[in-house]
Parts: sequence; C-alpha cells; structure tokens
Amino acid sequence: MKIAVYNCREDEKEFFNKFSKKYNVEIVPINMEPSIESTMFAKDCECISITSERMITKEMLDSYKALGIKFISTRTVGMEHIDVEYAKSIGIGVSNITYSTNGVADQAIMLMLMVIRKVKHIMIRSLSQDYSLDRSTRGQDLEDMTVGIIGTGNIGTTTAKHLSGFGCRILAYGKSKRDELKGIIEYVDLKTLLAESDIISLHIPATEANYHFIDKKAIEKMKPGVVIINTARGALLDNDALIEALESGKVGGAGLDVIEGDREIYYRNHSYEVLGHREMAVLNAMPNVILMPHTAFFTDHAVSDMVENSIKSCCEFLRSKE
Ligand code: COI
Repeated sequence: MKIAVYNCREDEKEFFNKFSKKYNVEIVPINMEPSIESTMFAKDCECISITSERMITKEMLDSYKALGIKFISTRTVGMEHIDVEYAKSIGIGVSNITYSTNGVADQAIMLMLMVIRKVKHIMIRSLSQDYSLDRSTRGQDLEDMTVGIIGTGNIGTTTAKHLSGFGCRILAYGKSKRDELKGIIEYVDLKTLLAESDIISLHIPATEANYHFIDKKAIEKMKPGVVIINTARGALLDNDALIEALESGKVGGAGLDVIEGDREIYYRNHSYEVLGHREMAVLNAMPNVILMPHTAFFTDHAVSDMVENSIKSCCEFLRSKE
C-alpha cells in the first residue's frame, strides 16, 4: 500500500521510515500542504495522511476521489479541518488518531505555573538585569488555588491526574464523567466551576456548539483575577472578550497554546511579515499573557504515536474493506 504524506516534516521522517517498515507500506512524502494544486501528488496512492494546517474542501475531496484515494488519515485528534460528511458521501473514509495525552496535559499545567509565577514578566526584567522583588513578580502557590477543568475527555483527565500532585482543589465540568477521577476532582455544574475556579483550563473539542464557549457572559460569571488556559482550540475563546477582561483586570492572566485565527499562522516561518492578527499582537504585548504556537502536543513520544497511528489507521481501513 502507498500512503501520500502531506506536510511531511523533517522531524517526522525518522518515524515514517521506522513504521513504514514495521507495517510494510510505502510512504510518498510530500513537502507541501494539501491544496487543490497538490492533490495530484497523491496519484497512485490509496491513502493520504494529512495534518491540520489547511481545510480539506469539497473540491479537494472530489479531486482525491478522482485520483482513487480511498482513505484520509489526519495525524491529529481534531478533525474540524475536514468535511467528513462529504468525504463519506463520496466514498472516502476519514479517521483521526490518538496519541499520548501527556504532552498537552503537561503543557496546560506548565502554562498555569508560568502565568501564576509571572514567568514572562520575570524573564523580560531579567534580560535587563532587573532582579528586584516586588508585587509584580510575586507569584501564587498552586496548592492554594482551585483549578476548573472544562472537559474530562482523555486530555482533561490526564491534566486532572497530573495536577492532583500539586495539592490544589480540582473542579471539573464535562459530559463524560470518568470513574478514574473519583477522589481527585469534584464534578460540578458550569456555573459553579466558573464562579469558584482561580484557574480555568479548556479541554473540549471545537464543535459548532462549543464556539466561543468562553465569551463575555461566561467571563462575567468568573472570579476576579481568574487565569484562563487554552490548549484545546482557539475558537473556544472569544478573543475580544478576553482582551477586554484582561484590560479591566477581571481576568488576571492567560496561557494560550491556541488562539482563534491561528490556522494560517502557526507551523510556518513568518519572519519579516506583517501578520495582520491584531488580537494576537495585543495579547502578546501583555505581561500576564503567554502565547505558545500550538506546540502542546509536540513531544518525541506524541510525534512517534501520530506517525505510527496514522499508518495503522490506513492499514486497518484497507483491511476492513478487504
Ligand atoms: C490535534 O491533534 O488535534 C492537535 O491539536 C495537534 C495538531 C494540530 C498537530
């Protein structure tokens, strides 16, 4: 079987080499994003493996269908960049993959600590050899705080488990209730979570229903000085509402691995370009906001899992067809 791999990054190649041998498949690395122009490079392949930097449009799906592509595997958990219903309707199978949740969970906790320990501000001051102590550099102990986890799927669950070692009170709100979290968290309704949490961390998918899950109204229900952490998807958090609340002091800080409108920006080198993402520029300028370029997932372990599971999902799909 031949799999065309779009956006095949240099750092992924060692894993594609290793796992193509293990699963006896041929990899066609394509150093390009999927687009209507680049569909033709998947000629003679049965499957394509993609990432999430580009939307997979109906036109592209038609083009893949005409080339004989049977299956699309996205090397991501999120699938909102693919028109799955349309793909299915024209007979192309689609699947996402899972990978170790530790990377994202640990980064969420790292962002919590960086914000409450004022790391950005301290590092910037240290660069000009200002090592003085004052209220602006004094932090808080996680143990004294209540952390609210929104969403207890795989990543939210790992975040809660890893967080439990810090001794903080952990509240959670989510559709799926996990037995394994008994004794670690208290499930509460959303209103209680918003009202009682000092830190709120988002771990829900970017569905239509979850669009701007945290908006002006939700922020109004939060504690003054609350810290918001988003390692899930930018669309969950209304940028304007967040900026307004940071300016008024209602929100005391934020750690954002994602930001609405980041799809066209992250994972590319934009040196000497004017980005035109004003909210990103405003948030980046704030001493109490840490932006990361959607790298929470990016660990050796996770990248190895992503490549292996993408190849595996192609093999399983074709086997099921046989
Ligand atoms: C996902 O797997 O859904 C992620 O958020 C990481 C990916 C965009 C590389």
